[in-house]
Amino acid sequence: LLARLDTLIAQYGYTNLGLAVAAVPLSIILLTVLFQLLFPGDPTHPPVVLHWLPIIGSAIEYGNDPIAFFRKCQEKYGNVFTFILLGRKVTVALGPKGNNFILGGRHSQMNAEDAYCHFTTPVFGKDVVYDVPNYVFMEQKRFIKSGLTTENFRAYVKMMEEEICSFIENDSAFRIYQLSDERGEWGQFHPLNTISEITILTASRTLQGKEIRASLDKTFAQRYADLDGGFRPLNFMFPNLPLESYRKRDKAHKAMSDFYREMIRKRRARKSFSDDDSHDMIAALLTQKYKDGHQIPEHEVAHIMIALLMAGQHTSAATGTWALLRIAEHPEIGAALYNEQIEHFGIGEPGVFRTASYEELRALPLLDAVIRETLRLHSPIHSIFRKVTQDVPVPRSLSSPRSTVASRPYIVPKGHYVLACAAVSQRDPKIWPNADKWDPYRWLEKDGVAAQAYKAYEDVNGEKVDYGFGAVSKGTDSPYQPFGAGRHRCIGEQFAYLQLGMLISTIIRKLELRLDIPFPEVNYHTLIVLPKDPCNISYRRRWEA
Ligand code: HEM
Repeated sequence: LLARLDTLIAQYGYTNLGLAVAAVPLSIILLTVLFQLLFPGDPTHPPVVLHWLPIIGSAIEYGNDPIAFFRKCQEKYGNVFTFILLGRKVTVALGPKGNNFILGGRHSQMNAEDAYCHFTTPVFGKDVVYDVPNYVFMEQKRFIKSGLTTENFRAYVKMMEEEICSFIENDSAFRIYQLSDERGEWGQFHPLNTISEITILTASRTLQGKEIRASLDKTFAQRYADLDGGFRPLNFMFPNLPLESYRKRDKAHKAMSDFYREMIRKRRARKSFSDDDSHDMIAALLTQKYKDGHQIPEHEVAHIMIALLMAGQHTSAATGTWALLRIAEHPEIGAALYNEQIEHFGIGEPGVFRTASYEELRALPLLDAVIRETLRLHSPIHSIFRKVTQDVPVPRSLSSPRSTVASRPYIVPKGHYVLACAAVSQRDPKIWPNADKWDPYRWLEKDGVAAQAYKAYEDVNGEKVDYGFGAVSKGTDSPYQPFGAGRHRCIGEQFAYLQLGMLISTIIRKLELRLDIPFPEVNYHTLIVLPKDPCNISYRRRWEA
């Protein structure tokens, strides 16, 4: 090869050869653009976003900042457009009507299992979630719901409080320990690392069960990390590559599945539950049966538990991280949250509080508003996909005013993916005053935009729909949908509110927070929307602590 190169250089010279090499990618770009301009495609289909490279399409722009990319496309093409994502055609529908089109879409026309199964089954395991027909998954959601009861949540409050307090007292993240006469010294902690640990501790102590909590310090943590390494955007794009991370994912899945199955066998053999495991999810799943009367097989219980671990961990940890970053950025909100705690749970002695009841915790207006506002600006999931299995017409009200076929609705053809991005409507300046500002007080205005959006999300006074896991609010055309909507709506919402509420209130009782760095930038390269480093929060133990 080198000899051949040498001959070519001798023949044409360095400059000419360099030009020839550069001409190849330039010609590809030119041809790709020319092709799109000369053959704009079927006018009955949504417009395709102009891109420079074949196959890669708009993957780089979308991957770097999906929200900015969608907003730019919205300006140019309207609310419905298609972009190329590594060879896939993805049609985006924006705004509340776009959310409704996709999340409220008919299951026979677009579905989640064909969009996600390749990605989730190696991690969760066989025969659950997207690896089964949708009606079976809806039954599995019903089983999960049976474990997420108010009665269980009441028992979780104390458990979570103990875990969080013990973490703040003992973990090296909070090693700067101010005594009352050393108030000047501020420590720092990395919220993402810290909150991720607290999230897994609180989830395992409550939902996952005492056996998982006890193994967290040992092999389970490594298995979880390896499994998690297989839950990245790369895995979404390429389900199987000959890479170490894929091998580790498969090994970790097998080990974890075996671990849960052993635990289930032991529990089944015992036939009764003790006080400290009667409130966890395994206890609930073991009492459930499919409509045809058969028990949930052991491997399915194990795989549902893995699915719940993965579904709840990053979403809650990311939201908790963003919430603390925002509170640290706004110390006046931190002070107001602290006062809310004193007002409701202070017992008259400085720094001493009683444990809240579940109902009391959920009725704290500012705490609730902080969580809602954080989810509005920092929804952990920015893109929700479905695969189109039948040509589907786009409602006329959604078609772009620039459409050349205004009289006919667009058709999204079979084989496309559709994508809903509530994050765009959640910060749309046409809907929300000061849309980009983090302002929890907007949720306390009785008839404000936020209250209206929430009513639409909860379908207050509206119909509830039963997709097979009990009646739920449809909420598909609300501009605020951090937990999705329709048949795939999150069932962990109330648990997440409890977990986040306990996290924020316990930390606020003990620590003052402040941000000594610019507010962190957003990292969209991870599956879940996370802050980029540096993102340290400065803390100081409260005078009374
Ligand atoms: C579904 C967000 C916490 C379990 C979803 C969806 C979203 C979401 C957007 C819809 C996905 C889709 O339509 O494709 C969140 C957020 C959370 C959170 C923002 C925390 C702040 C949890 C927790 C659990 C959980 C703690 C478990 C205890 C589920 C399940 C589904 C779901 C089982 C149903 C998936 C489906 O039907 O396809 N979540 N989630 N989530 N989530 Fe959550």
